[in-house]
Amino acid sequence: MNQMLPKKHQILPTTTWGIRSSLHSLIAILVATLLIGAVYLTQEGGLQLLYQDCTIITTLETRAEGAEDPKLSISSSKSRSKSRSSSCNLFSGKWVSDNQSYPLYKERQCTYMSDQLACEKFGRKDLSYQNWRWQPHQCDLPRFNATKLLERLRNKRLVFVGDSLNRGQWVSMVCLVESAVSQDLKSMPTKANGSLLIFKATEYNATIEFYWAPLLVESNSDDPVNHRVPDRIVRAQAIEKHARHWTDADVLVFNSYLWWRRSQMNVLWGSFESQDGIYKDLEILRVYEMALKTWSDWLEVHVNRTKTKLFFVSMSPTHQSAKEWGETSRENCYKETEPITEEGYWGNGSDPKMMRLVENVLDGLKVRGLDVQILNITQLSEYRKEGHPSIYRKQWEPLTEEQASNPSSFADCIHWCLPGVPDVWNELLYAYIFQQ
Ligand SMILES: *[C@@H]1O[C@H](CO)[C@@H](O)[C@H](O)[C@H]1NC(C)=O
Ligand SMILES: *[C@@H]1O[C@H](CO)[C@@H](O)[C@H](O)[C@H]1NC(C)=O
Ligand SMILES: *[C@@H]1O[C@H](CO)[C@@H](O)[C@H](O)[C@H]1NC(C)=O
Ligand SMILES: *[C@@H]1O[C@H](CO)[C@@H](O)[C@H](O)[C@H]1NC(C)=O
Ligand SMILES: *[C@@H]1O[C@H](CO)[C@@H](O)[C@H](O)[C@H]1NC(C)=O
Ligand SMILES: *[C@@H]1O[C@H](CO)[C@@H](O)[C@H](O)[C@H]1NC(C)=O
Ligand SMILES: *[C@@H]1O[C@H](CO)[C@@H](O)[C@H](O)[C@H]1NC(C)=O
Repeated sequence: MNQMLPKKHQILPTTTWGIRSSLHSLIAILVATLLIGAVYLTQEGGLQLLYQDCTIITTLETRAEGAEDPKLSISSSKSRSKSRSSSCNLFSGKWVSDNQSYPLYKERQCTYMSDQLACEKFGRKDLSYQNWRWQPHQCDLPRFNATKLLERLRNKRLVFVGDSLNRGQWVSMVCLVESAVSQDLKSMPTKANGSLLIFKATEYNATIEFYWAPLLVESNSDDPVNHRVPDRIVRAQAIEKHARHWTDADVLVFNSYLWWRRSQMNVLWGSFESQDGIYKDLEILRVYEMALKTWSDWLEVHVNRTKTKLFFVSMSPTHQSAKEWGETSRENCYKETEPITEEGYWGNGSDPKMMRLVENVLDGLKVRGLDVQILNITQLSEYRKEGHPSIYRKQWEPLTEEQASNPSSFADCIHWCLPGVPDVWNELLYAYIFQQ
């Protein structure tokens, strides 16, 4: 096993930052890092709505009929071998209360749980948000099997790249698999000045990583800890500084949405260091498109098509205004305990114009021979108004009583409690990783 370690350094040739301190301080770094996104994002306001039709068709191995009972995990894995193929939109479905098989792990048992997302630890008493299964209309999701995923990831890198929502999904993925790995065979080093967090399963030589790049391209918010800047500046044509850290990944999962939720952004031509850079405020959709183009051009040139699987996670919805779902006695997601049941509910924080931009860019890549699968989690997450931490979380410190008694200012209705909604995003990712 040990001879794998020296090789590992070649994974990131440009990095000399293989911090190897005790597990304890690594977790401290990780936790500190995880706290920041909330501080920033909760500052941001709400936005526009509507929708566009487009169906993702997929052929999947599904649980056979009769294997529905969540208690029957062993018999269901048996019947799964008589798999049937079906054409099924995994993102169209409904939430089903299921306290037998969910949560998929226990909050307190996950070694790498983030305090930002540990709602139970920070006082949430209604825990039914942990007990929902996503049921696609036309088929079943395959059962998540951590060992099977780690075997698939043997000698491989699965890398999440993006903002704090994507980091939440990464924490979820780590929690989903880490119990399958014994304590002395897993670690959590960081690299690239803390921008790259690496869960490593030693016996599989597999890593599940998160790289902080909230706008994908370079910006003045790239520091994984100190990125709360008053005026956001983006180098919409520069991505190499980030991309070199994930060049040789085997599975890449991107996202980038909430940081763009404003009307304009300052774009820089030139470098942050030089004096003669050109700065210009541009309308947000234009800047988003420029950034996505930079990103997609990079992929087109650098990604090995036979090796790397690519995913883009669609917008994560927010629940900051209870009026949107017809609630008048509350301001936001605080105190919500049930999902929205209205089929097709769409909040106005999720901008369909931005989703369409992503689709167009991905269509363009497809024409050029590169497939990026959208994980279309927006609609299914829209229903989960009760899935956010609200006041049950830690930022630097747990909220003071005064803050907790003022949920309209302090509730986090952007990120998601774990175990919870992001676990389902990962079940969807899992389904696609094992497709065909
Ligand atoms: C969002 O929807 C609510 C309720 O329908 C409305 O009052 C509010 O103005 C909308 N916000 C935006 C930014 O459109
Ligand atoms: C995402 O899923 C929703 C609902 O299932 C669907 O209406 C929408 O068109 C899909 N969007 C994309 C980009 O696939
Ligand atoms: C699980 O749900 C069932 C049906 O809703 C309920 O009767 C039961 O008490 C629940 N069990 C637990 C452990 O919450
Ligand atoms: C999970 O996958 C492993 C390896 O493929 C297999 O041995 C095991 O039986 C699976 N477990 C379940 C519950 O299906
Ligand atoms: C370990 O995995 C990395 C990819 O993450 C790979 O480059 C390396 O060759 C693997 N080591 C061995 C011994 O297979
Ligand atoms: C880490 O930060 C230092 C100082 O801010 C910088 O000079 C260096 O390039 C960074 N290293 C990486 C790998 O990003
Ligand atoms: C692409 O990846 C495949 C499978 O890992 C490998 O055999 C091939 O050599 C790679 N191609 C290039 C150009 O690196």
